[in-house]
Amino acid sequence: MIDNLLKATIRDIVDFPKPGIVFKDITPILKNAHLCNLVIEEFATRLKEVHFDVVAGIESRGFLFGLMLANHLGIPFVPIRKEGKLPAQTTKQSYDLEYGSATIEMHTDAFEPGARVLIHDDLLATGGTVVAASKLIQQLGGIIAGYSFVISLDFLNGRQRLLPYSNQLISLVSY
Ligand code: PRP
Ligand code: MG
Repeated sequence: MIDNLLKATIRDIVDFPKPGIVFKDITPILKNAHLCNLVIEEFATRLKEVHFDVVAGIESRGFLFGLMLANHLGIPFVPIRKEGKLPAQTTKQSYDLEYGSATIEMHTDAFEPGARVLIHDDLLATGGTVVAASKLIQQLGGIIAGYSFVISLDFLNGRQRLLPYSNQLISLVSY
């Protein structure tokens, strides 16, 4: 099963980025081209019944598999970036972090209004980032078709926060 393979490959880094946090490091997956292909095939299989026109990936780790997936499916990939990085006209959404706040943005022409958007990120933790991404997509007239994550940290209940937007949520590995 791919979840066992992924669990054996993802590295736990203790006390990163600060004491008390166990960081889930996905870089060992990226070093294994065959495993990357398995990840993408698994996403594609599990998303078969979810109809979407575009994949929106969240900077920065959401770009990795988000782009691979969109490319595999032959559909557009659009980036959701941290503030100040996108060159053309954007729309913004701010959200709270544990300390302070952050802002993400998208190009206003990222997709046509009414497009069905799959939001992709590497990891679902509290859900704060992906809730902000969901609001951004709705602001631009997109329909949230669902979510895909490599990892979800279920003990943080991020899944509950996404239910008002879509109940289509796929994660390959849960902790
Ligand atoms: C991490 C992770 C998710 C987000 C999850 O990104 O890649 O994007 O946090 O946290 P949440 O569900 O509590 O919002 P990070 O902000 O560390 O940036 P990076 O992807 O650029 O490394
Ligand atoms: Mg991230």
